[in-house]
Amino acid sequence: MIIRNAKEKDFDNIIESYKALYARLSECGYGFTLSLNDLPDILKVHMDSKMNMVAVAEEANRFCGFISASIIRLDRKIRFEEASHAGMVNELYIVPEERKKGTAKELTLFCEKWLKDNGITIVECNVVAGNHGAFSYWNKQGYRESTKLCYKKL
Ligand SMILES: CC(C)(COP(=O)(O)OP(=O)(O)OC[C@H]1O[C@@H](n2cnc3c(N)ncnc32)[C@H](O)[C@@H]1OP(=O)(O)O)[C@@H](O)C(=O)NCCC(=O)NCCS
Repeated sequence: MIIRNAKEKDFDNIIESYKALYARLSECGYGFTLSLNDLPDILKVHMDSKMNMVAVAEEANRFCGFISASIIRLDRKIRFEEASHAGMVNELYIVPEERKKGTAKELTLFCEKWLKDNGITIVECNVVAGNHGAFSYWNKQGYRESTKLCYKKL
């Protein structure tokens, strides 16, 4: 298994993964949808930016999945210990036939190393409330539940 930063050639696979990920999140009751028109531009900017990372997993030239993360500024009035910035895992997706082989774990470790190398000491990720498998996954990686985000359609 190779874990590496995403390149232009990974673009189509990552876009397809986003579609499958959001289809899955919709099944879990997530009410927000992917803006497919904006995604390619956002992804390009993300791949070129120093505050963001996109990495892929591949096996024998086969795309297995991706992770995306950002360095974000915390709310200006709070700190984590002394830190004013945090890492945020935006998306993690493994193609179905490659699951349960430790691929997501390797992508997560790669992402956490990138954050640590950039001086970041805390990482967060939003998990859709109905995505129970993802909760189990993140718990196994040492992530603990913090806030619960509530929303209401007006
Ligand atoms: C969740 C997901 C990323 C896990 O990927 P994966 O490559 O199968 O995970 P790994 O093989 O690295 O698993 C690492 C550990 O988590 C556990 N785990 C992974 N998926 C799990 C699940 N659905 N339920 C319970 N445990 C799970 C594994 O058993 C393994 O445990 P171990 O270390 O004790 O052996 C993958 O199922 C996926 O892409 N799902 C759809 C998209 C999604 O929900 N993404 C998360 C958004 S927050």
